[in-house]
Amino acid sequence: MTTNLARPAALLSGADMSHTRAEDGVPALTMSDGPNGLAMNLPDWSGKVPATCFPAPAALAATWDVDLVAEVAAAIGREARAAGADVLLGPSINIKRSPLGGRGFEYYSEDPFLTGRIGAAFVDGVQSAGVGACVKHFAVNSQETDRMRVSAEVSERALREIYLAAFEHVVAHAAPAMIMASYNRVNGTYVTQDRRILTDILRGEWGFDGAVVSDWGAVDDRVAALRAGLDLEMPGPGEGSLRRILAAVEDDELDASVVVEAADRLRRVATTWGARPASTPDHEEHHRLAVNAAAASVVLLSNDGVLPLAPTGGQIAVIGQLARTPHIQGGGSASAAPTRVDTPLDGLRAVLERPVGFAAGYSTDPALQESLVDEAVRVARGSDVAVVFLGPGEGSESEGYDRASLELPAAQLDLLARIREVNERTVVVLVNGGIVLTAPWSDGVAALVEGWLPGQGGGAAIAQVLTGAVNPSGRLAETIPLRLSDTPAFASFPGHGGRVFHGEGIFVGYRGYDLAEREVAFPFGHGLSYTQFAYEDVLVIDDGAQSGDPVIEFTVRNVGAVAGAEVWQVYVRPEPLTEDRPVRTLAAFGKVHLEPGASARIRSTVASRDFARWDERRDGWVVDDGTYALDIGASSRDIRTETTVRRVASGPRTVLDGRSTLREWLTDPSVGTSLVHVAQDADPSGATAGFLANPTILTMIGDLPIERLFDDPSTALGPDLLSRALQHATVHEEQNDGL
Ligand code: BGC
Repeated sequence: MTTNLARPAALLSGADMSHTRAEDGVPALTMSDGPNGLAMNLPDWSGKVPATCFPAPAALAATWDVDLVAEVAAAIGREARAAGADVLLGPSINIKRSPLGGRGFEYYSEDPFLTGRIGAAFVDGVQSAGVGACVKHFAVNSQETDRMRVSAEVSERALREIYLAAFEHVVAHAAPAMIMASYNRVNGTYVTQDRRILTDILRGEWGFDGAVVSDWGAVDDRVAALRAGLDLEMPGPGEGSLRRILAAVEDDELDASVVVEAADRLRRVATTWGARPASTPDHEEHHRLAVNAAAASVVLLSNDGVLPLAPTGGQIAVIGQLARTPHIQGGGSASAAPTRVDTPLDGLRAVLERPVGFAAGYSTDPALQESLVDEAVRVARGSDVAVVFLGPGEGSESEGYDRASLELPAAQLDLLARIREVNERTVVVLVNGGIVLTAPWSDGVAALVEGWLPGQGGGAAIAQVLTGAVNPSGRLAETIPLRLSDTPAFASFPGHGGRVFHGEGIFVGYRGYDLAEREVAFPFGHGLSYTQFAYEDVLVIDDGAQSGDPVIEFTVRNVGAVAGAEVWQVYVRPEPLTEDRPVRTLAAFGKVHLEPGASARIRSTVASRDFARWDERRDGWVVDDGTYALDIGASSRDIRTETTVRRVASGPRTVLDGRSTLREWLTDPSVGTSLVHVAQDADPSGATAGFLANPTILTMIGDLPIERLFDDPSTALGPDLLSRALQHATVHEEQNDGL
């Protein structure tokens, strides 16, 4: 039998670092990295294929613009196709649990809803260009420390609501060719060997029909991984794995059908995405798109009116080495070899018709520091505006290690303080992937601009935004806290002893700051514009007849003097709030471009699922009966209008048995009253019913598993009574249903 299996089994590991094996009639697949631009290694590993370097994924997400993200991804797809790649290893859609995560620049957001929408748009874009997308890193790969072994200890609820939700959305809405299983373990099991995650959930619940590939080197036990649902081990050639697979079948440890099915899935992916005709990408056009995307990602955090810069007037002082030697992308497998790089200094000089002075201001060589600061102060003094570019710099953010700090380098902050002393009109432009702390120094600057790791078009883009040629419309996809110690995962990141406890549960990002009522520097969803928007006339168009998807409408009006784009956001807020729900949860968003004075009527659907929480006892998505506010606004903490909708309870029934507590039995909406009712019948003395109805009993021993009361002769509680209560509740419900 193993002879027949040798061919399919050979498909289950790669041919080398980036190819699968070819078979008669089934082409080999070429895979390449590239979540912000094709990052394909040259055959001799001396570098990478030149490619358009688009804004880092963190910046792309800050556009909150799914159409633009799809356009960027399609361009990356075209470049991949042209270079001969069949599958692009991206997008990277892990949740930013802590801003210290080293791949924060490569991940989209702290919020799964936004991540899912941006991720699906990216997959759609790549696949529209004829290249399969491989969504990674599935799952809970939110840190670099010990990334190849660490166990993310996470509750089922946090797994479902936070860490799996974006993957679920992308699988359901964009049908990616592949999913990449991550290095780490989840609750003790390597994801590559976790059948529940790779098969029961991914394929069974979500209907994924593509192939699962391991992250490079993530397979610990090839046979266990295959059994769990991991089709392709990378990199190849994996001769040892092949032998182990065949031996396991021979020894009856592995069913031959598992090998055949995995090989079939890979064949399907290879037939669909392999050996498609190459295209010739237009690099000039892609560069323009890189500029547009970078401009759309810029977030204007604060502005006292100093921005936009007028084209004419006194000198503009551009300060900071990062304006001349830009930091455009993070490190690791995602980094691309840009076809060209625009610098902010050149960009500003090209668009301003006024003198532009420059000083480097800081250096990695401390010996130069004092003279660089003196020079910068000289340029800034007497200039109309000083624009200071600050950021942690090259090497600060990369795959492979977490960030050491969220602070800007001390030398840069000293420089800023000195510049501020001589020029009140000081603008700071931040150059970073994951967020940096802005408190307390940002209070003293006239404007603060988050420019991200903007890719190769960042220089031109930032010049467009600073001068108002492009009105800023980016929004934070990640909260900027006041302190590192405020971050919800602070106590347990990055864990120790091989485990990282996700003690904050679902309260990641703004969910955590809101729960703790913590002040933040800039909230999730925040971003200013050179114009202002008003929100008016909210209406519930369709309440979803209590269990469908409610539809609301509202008007967004540009009440300022210039054209601009607003990112409207809708958050679900349960009313009243119970302590186990986030205050607000993002449930819809969109971007609308408006001329001055113009308005748009926005119609927005909030999916039923976005009212639900994962219930661990009921093992499913549950909507609690009640009223839910829909908060509509310009950020998670800038709510401009609201409406409410009612939802009726839905979701799987609670499974009650002897191990369920007295409280769980008595508070169950249907079984609780039935239990008291049947107790009255079974024990006419009234002792059992009286016991159950006594509020002190509930307070004192409500948490006792009910079966521990079975031996107590003073009540009639026992298995018999419980099954009668369950039966009674069912009959009662059926009668009600019939009404
Ligand atoms: C990274 C992946 C990447 C792979 C192949 C791994 O180290 O985690 O994101 O796709 O290498 O380069």
